[in-house]
Amino acid sequence: MTTRINPSILAADFANLEHELGRIASADLVHVDVMDNHFVPNLTFGPQMVGRLQEVSPIPLDVHLMISDVDRWAPGYAELGAFSVTFHAEATDEPVALARRLREIGARAGIALKPGTDVEPYLELLPEFDQVLVMTVEPGFGGQSFMAETMPKLERLSRVVRETDLDVWLQVDGGISLDTIGIAADAGADTFVAGSAVFGADVPAERIIALRDAAIA
Ligand code: DX5
Ligand code: ZN
Repeated sequence: MTTRINPSILAADFANLEHELGRIASADLVHVDVMDNHFVPNLTFGPQMVGRLQEVSPIPLDVHLMISDVDRWAPGYAELGAFSVTFHAEATDEPVALARRLREIGARAGIALKPGTDVEPYLELLPEFDQVLVMTVEPGFGGQSFMAETMPKLERLSRVVRETDLDVWLQVDGGISLDTIGIAADAGADTFVAGSAVFGADVPAERIIALRDAAIA
């Protein structure tokens, strides 16, 4: 199984993002947290900023939309060239139509589940998606503690993906560190978002490798 480590630039120095991208050369994808101060109580950046990141980043972008009205905004992120675009289940009434639109444009489509969001209604939609993001903290802020109570949801997803032989990546986001990554890996995650654990390290590129090793161990 491939193990992917996607550093979240939410924990990077916003005044030096191009330089920060240079410190994570060992990453698989760059996780970009878009927040609108409506879906979550925090505000980050929008399409113009992400478009510029797309131009300068040597590593493909994994865009995590923590915004409302994704039917309106998500396709734009796919159009600017993001590798994957993930929206929250609650942010649209038409998740399948939106996923199809994202795939048509050429991005991988992802659906994100908050800690309190039940996975069962979304299991039958899995063929429409390329990845599921299981939030392991409440979305909105970096540096929070990993919520182990979300692991049964990941185990359930992992079982269904294996049984149905689907190619759907299972991503975890929030509180992933050298101490917690093994728990999420055991529960079936293959893609790990880490903000503070990567950018809080003296040498982020080495921390990424250590995280990958810890996930496999
Ligand atoms: C939280 C974001 C995460 C965040 C993770 O809402 O979706 O991507 O950057 O940060 P850490 O790894 O510090 O918990
Ligand atoms: Zn995120």
